[in-house]
Amino acid sequence: MAAAHRLLVDIHTHVYLPRYAAFLRSRSSAPRIFTRTSPEGKQEDRLLILDDEPSEGRPVGPQYWDRDEKLKFMDRHAIDVSVVSSANPWLDFLPAPDAHKLAEELNTDMEDYCSAGPSLTALPSAKRLYGFGLLPLVPGASADSLVSTVVQISKLPHLKGIIMGTRGLGKGLDDDALEPVWGALEKAGLVVFLHPHYGVDKDAWGAKDNGHVLPLALGFPFETTVATTRLILSGVLDRYPSLRLLLAHSGGALPALSSRLSSCIEHDPVVASRLTHDARYYLGRLYFDAVAYGAEELGFVSDAIGRADKYVTAGTSAAASGAGATDSVAQRRLGSGRMLFGTDHPFFPPLGETEKWKSVVENLEAIDGVWGWTEKEKDAVRGGNAFSLFSLGS
Ligand code: URA
Ligand code: ZN
Repeated sequence: MAAAHRLLVDIHTHVYLPRYAAFLRSRSSAPRIFTRTSPEGKQEDRLLILDDEPSEGRPVGPQYWDRDEKLKFMDRHAIDVSVVSSANPWLDFLPAPDAHKLAEELNTDMEDYCSAGPSLTALPSAKRLYGFGLLPLVPGASADSLVSTVVQISKLPHLKGIIMGTRGLGKGLDDDALEPVWGALEKAGLVVFLHPHYGVDKDAWGAKDNGHVLPLALGFPFETTVATTRLILSGVLDRYPSLRLLLAHSGGALPALSSRLSSCIEHDPVVASRLTHDARYYLGRLYFDAVAYGAEELGFVSDAIGRADKYVTAGTSAAASGAGATDSVAQRRLGSGRMLFGTDHPFFPPLGETEKWKSVVENLEAIDGVWGWTEKEKDAVRGGNAFSLFSLGS
């Protein structure tokens, strides 16, 4: 598998599978795809998915559903492999029986999308496309229906995980009703990609028209920050030690707030008594995409991950296994082992004609520019970590 260490793997890249796109077209309220006449008099498709988004939505086209377009984008940016996920809002808005049926159909579609794609020339045992499945995580869904969908996904060889939003069954991810789901996901070895959709209360954005900037730049990452913090506080990571969670957008504000979180827990003994370790330990249990657009941010996230072993509670089994870093550079290098390149394609397309997408180039330059990471760590973030986390090509 030596070749895998030099490959570029995109683990944050989305699709609206054709069945899902057709379903969005059939709808008359958000989320929906509709056709309108543009101000220039042309017919154009628009996507309306975010709550309180301007009612004309955003432009949408084959980049969002066509596999050949995904492969062209990959070729243009020298991306060898993509682990593709359905884009938000997934099935969140459907009644439970409809969500279950569509989840299982879309999981089969995703398997076909990947398996019918090309193999990797440099490593013929691997495909160029792998995927995340979907669970029918909606209010009223039974544990049985969720667990049976986990089992379905685990039997689809090109699906390596699931993507989920932050609402769970309507009460968030710290809902006790989700216990069987965490257990089933851990047992199946599926990676959970936690991705935002709702942002935060729109009143926080004020009255000025700032387009999509505030919900996407701040709302999305804060939503992930809150959801992950609630998961940590609920003890899920203690109860499911082999559960693998991958956080979108480099974990939002969690790395920057993790010492403050730790201090607040310490001052709240009831909460503290629920957790085995200091809050900062749990960052070393998570995986983070490298979709942060800046080298300094990536370096900082890797520092926060790499210091986790310092916060293992003495006398626990985790303490016995902690490898530990000897200094701050070693710590930063250690943390990079849990970070993975992503693009967020097909979102953030360039506004004009360009050979490469700025959003992609910036994320690659960010990885290249992290102080303290050697070529070994950079290669791992670009692709090696993804090969290990998702057991690609095996
Ligand atoms: N906008 C979205 O709605 N989803 C993404 O994943 C990125 C941008
Ligand atoms: Zn995304």
